[in-house]
Amino acid sequence: MTSLLRYCLSLLLDFWERSRLGRVMSVILPALIQVVNPPYSRKRRRSCSDDVAPERRPQQKKSMDDLAAEVQARFEAPAQTERMLEMSLRLQEEYREKLGKSEISMLPSFQHTLPNGGEKGEYLALDVGGSTFRAALIRLAGRKGEREGLQVRRMRSFVINEDIRRLKGREFFDWMASKIGEMLAEYNHIKGTTDARLKMGMAWSFPVEQTSPRTGKLLTMGKGFTAGHGVEGEDLADLVMDACRARNLNVELCAIVNDGAATLLSQAYRDPATRMSLILGTGMNAAVFLPTTALGPSKFGPRSDSWFAAASRVVVNTEISMFGKHVFPTTKWDDQLNSSHRLPDYQPLEYLITGRYLGEILRLILLEAIPTTNLFSGYIPEKLDEPYTLETRLLAHFEQDTTPDLSVASAAFATAHPLPSPPTLPELKFIRSATQVASTRAAAYLGTALHALWAVRTAAEGLSPGEASHVTIACDGSMVEKYPGFRQRTQGFLDELCVQSGAEAGTVRLEVVKEGSIFGAGVAVGCMGEEEGEGS
Ligand code: GLC
Repeated sequence: MTSLLRYCLSLLLDFWERSRLGRVMSVILPALIQVVNPPYSRKRRRSCSDDVAPERRPQQKKSMDDLAAEVQARFEAPAQTERMLEMSLRLQEEYREKLGKSEISMLPSFQHTLPNGGEKGEYLALDVGGSTFRAALIRLAGRKGEREGLQVRRMRSFVINEDIRRLKGREFFDWMASKIGEMLAEYNHIKGTTDARLKMGMAWSFPVEQTSPRTGKLLTMGKGFTAGHGVEGEDLADLVMDACRARNLNVELCAIVNDGAATLLSQAYRDPATRMSLILGTGMNAAVFLPTTALGPSKFGPRSDSWFAAASRVVVNTEISMFGKHVFPTTKWDDQLNSSHRLPDYQPLEYLITGRYLGEILRLILLEAIPTTNLFSGYIPEKLDEPYTLETRLLAHFEQDTTPDLSVASAAFATAHPLPSPPTLPELKFIRSATQVASTRAAAYLGTALHALWAVRTAAEGLSPGEASHVTIACDGSMVEKYPGFRQRTQGFLDELCVQSGAEAGTVRLEVVKEGSIFGAGVAVGCMGEEEGEGS
């Protein structure tokens, strides 16, 4: 049937070309077609195989195996112990420099003691994250075992969608207050009261310049938020409390902590060996408990004499994502990502390892592979030409798929980025191999950054690595919690580096702490006790 149709069509075309009318129409028709039916849809136009006549199609420049080997070599080269130890030393220098002087990283909090596990009380804990706002009634019952010391009596999560993210200034804080009001009503209901008063602690996953344990200047908010609009530089506690007062809510904001510091506090409540924390999800950060002598005098800003008299150590928000620009080797795909970023070089480590960027690095590799190796027969899968559309959670499917034909990963890929025909097994294997080396490099760089922080802390405590006692790093965030094998790989690199620098194996442990930041907000209030209200 098709061949008969083709034959008829060729006869018709033959006649058409020979006739005069045909010659005239062959000029007019294409123009007409352009008007009535504009060029192919974007996706078809972007397909290499459709754009160009077969004989002019760009030559496949290398095989998929060759490119896979190149990707592997580029990502694996820096993840060697010797090189990582060198990088760690250079990072230690960077950390020390910023501990001496910097207004944007290595920020000391007001928290100068860690919880001893004896703190008790009921608090309303708030956690303002990049995509959710959570409010929880927390009960600190005293450290007894692993679990029972910290209890969540009620918790509610509110999605921060694009509309909420775009709320400007006080509108955002009013939205927060309305949710706080709902939790307060639940608390009154549980207690059988109408006017219970609740103390609140707040974990804030944005930069804030702290001016006391419970106050701080609101700084520019990243992550697409416009809540700082018109109120930047104002006191964060006032913004929250003004909104609560306007709704007659009987609450009092007693503590503000960065989410990294909150995670550290939360695990320290359960595990006295906790000295560091790590947040690794869409964004990243780390906190560390350091001797105050490790920081330069200008780092502390105005604080009361009593604070300095009481403080021998302090929880420091490192903003670790900002380090490593001239330390971590990058590939051409990392460089491409960085140069097209809204804030190039702003958070170099974050761009190499977090959930937001791992998928983007892979997307750039695939976009190179499509024309050069004829991946997907030269087709660009749907949406893959739009930045940040390849989600890291899709890569997780490739890492954990144990089926011989990678059918789980294939189905997930086809749903997210449809193609005219499903990817072949060699194509799926190409994606998996690139994913594995990119995520392993991420674990290596993270291990190196944490090793450097551990080394700085150990030295600041006046200890040699061999004398250092066991340290727990409290971890929170989707990458450490959920990305297949990521925490284990990071732990492996960290162990190797610690042993190479003279510590005993297992000296530093990454421990996942569930709900770390929200518990930490409650613990921060519990820790304050008589210090409450102290500050500048
Ligand atoms: C961003 C913020 C930082 C926060 C981190 C994790 O990097 O600058 O303050 O701790 O995200 O949420």
